[in-house]
Amino acid sequence: MKNKPVILVTGASGQLGKTLQAKALDQTKYQWFFYTKKELDITSPAQVETIFEQLQPDFCINTAAYTNVNKAEEEKAKAHLVNATAVAHLASVASQHTTRLIHLSTDYVFDGEQSIPYTEDDIPNPLNEYGKSKAIGETQVLKHPQHYVVRTAWLYAKNHGHNFYRTIVKKAKAGEALSVVNDQVGSPTSTDFLAHFLLRLIDKSPQGGIYHCAGEKVQSWYSFAKDILREQQLEVPIQEAHTQKTTALRPRFSALSATKTL
Ligand SMILES: NC(=O)c1ccc[n+]([C@@H]2O[C@H](COP(=O)([O-])OP(=O)(O)OC[C@H]3O[C@@H](n4cnc5c(N)ncnc54)[C@H](OP(=O)(O)O)[C@@H]3O)[C@@H](O)[C@H]2O)c1
Repeated sequence: MKNKPVILVTGASGQLGKTLQAKALDQTKYQWFFYTKKELDITSPAQVETIFEQLQPDFCINTAAYTNVNKAEEEKAKAHLVNATAVAHLASVASQHTTRLIHLSTDYVFDGEQSIPYTEDDIPNPLNEYGKSKAIGETQVLKHPQHYVVRTAWLYAKNHGHNFYRTIVKKAKAGEALSVVNDQVGSPTSTDFLAHFLLRLIDKSPQGGIYHCAGEKVQSWYSFAKDILREQQLEVPIQEAHTQKTTALRPRFSALSATKTL
């Protein structure tokens, strides 16, 4: 017999996975299980089924994902396997065990043609393979009305992982002058903010469906970089740049607004 609700977290060594591990330390009303890719590869149906059988989780937070946007153009099959095929299976296994799946998704499911923040009701139209794979994953999860899709954007952890925030700090500390694009606008979101949202979602357990969770400030990478320098009290020359042609197309505007409050 379980005496506390059980939460299984996949992708435990990723940015969000690590932040959730830190937050879980004072969330003792739940029993937490964190699995890295080595311990639970979500593309292995057998591994997923065995772990669900063992833990009988109440919630599964799926932070595991193929997140390299440019590389996904070349490794399309791999991106789709992790972000779509594996997610469809995870959602079904979760349903069989009456586990509520909380699946993370992205602002990159949108095409960026809008000029006001995207809400939960806006229709995805991804521009790149990463976005396409995540959009298919969402559809698979939403076949199960009790599950959640939580879209977030421009995710960063200040203290770990590879992300824009840490890259700017590293370059500025090395005294490098910065050139940062000013023609892509979004909603930078800290993993701390997102982790708090996920905990509230679990506490409140509202009806399933799509939820947006993103930082309140709508800004370009350039504006975000200036905020980071200010916050870290670092001073280096910084100039605005235009997006260069990269392997993957990126939405020019992908800010998210949350119309559902918890
Ligand atoms: N980062 C962003 O800016 C951003 C923006 C919007 C939405 N999101 C979404 O937010 C979620 C969390 O993102 P994040 O930034 O924390 O990602 P992350 O740092 O890249 O972490 C993802 C983790 O998933 C693991 N993983 C990859 N394939 C796996 C598999 N087959 N089985 C199990 N684990 C696997 C990765 O391991 P390896 O590193 O060893 O491959 C990594 O530890 C993802 O769903 C992402 O799509 C991210």
